Amino acid sequence: MKIGILGSGFIGGTLARRFSACGHTVKVANSRGPETIDPDVLSTGAHAVTKEEALTDIDVLILSIPFIRIPDLAPVLAELPAETVVIDTSNYIPMRDDRIEAIEKGKPDSVWVTEKLGRPIAKAWNSIYSATLKEMNRPADHPERVAAPVAADRERDRDVAMALVEESGFDAYDAGTIADSWRQQCGAPCYCTEVTLSELPEALSNADLERSRRRQDLAFAVYEERFGTSGINPGRDFIVQLSRLLNL
Ligand SMILES: NC(=O)c1ccc[n+]([C@@H]2O[C@H](COP(=O)([O-])OP(=O)(O)OC[C@H]3O[C@@H](n4cnc5c(N)ncnc54)[C@H](OP(=O)(O)O)[C@@H]3O)[C@@H](O)[C@H]2O)c1
Repeated sequence: MKIGILGSGFIGGTLARRFSACGHTVKVANSRGPETIDPDVLSTGAHAVTKEEALTDIDVLILSIPFIRIPDLAPVLAELPAETVVIDTSNYIPMRDDRIEAIEKGKPDSVWVTEKLGRPIAKAWNSIYSATLKEMNRPADHPERVAAPVAADRERDRDVAMALVEESGFDAYDAGTIADSWRQQCGAPCYCTEVTLSELPEALSNADLERSRRRQDLAFAVYEERFGTSGINPGRDFIVQLSRLLNL
């Protein structure tokens, strides 16, 4: 498959490495230019390209950029063929992004994204902590393989996103439509808790948007107390333990 990835950070960088290692043709771009992409991201064969090049001649586009930057992509994504599968990994994080009133009033993050982009998307990997994505990929038959919900409105988007989640080393679970995707947002029971496929349906059905918001605020208060506002991603044990305590 020909995959373009916008964002070469914690999530985009790991996906670029992994999908190239699986034999896909991967082009990856960041905001500053191909020469600034970490060579480690390219170590399994991904090509560093400009944002424009990442969007040409691809089957799948993975968006792994800050949530608040997504609307900037609307004009360029309007040029993509309708059949191109766009998979978004992003989460609305008001402590990092600007406050968005529609989302504060209850609009699911990814409904807002589809409205801003004016095209369908799939939502995947957003519930997997970056260190979990990097360290906890496992073969399909592993009994403790971590599971990831996938939401989408079009069947092809869902099928492709689920297949790629599986290839990235996680069990994919059909979590319904983009309107349902608030169940996998920050602070939800499946968020950064490393649930398995047998635990994920209950985690999704136990989601409560108001409680997810409160839990997200609590989690950020704890990060800030421990790590300040430096923007570092703490170690996996810390985040997964905290998320399991708060969210499950
Ligand atoms: N970190 C996590 O644990 C985690 C888990 C699940 C989901 N997510 C979500 O996944 C997304 C990416 O997170 P991350 O942690 O990987 O972020 P990150 O490490 O900060 O990386 C963000 C990347 O986006 C690039 N970028 C920003 N604006 C861009 C644009 N307009 N076009 C192309 N590239 C652009 C940045 O490039 P420059 O460096 O050149 O600016 C950088 O490579 C976020 O929405 C986040 O909420 C994160």
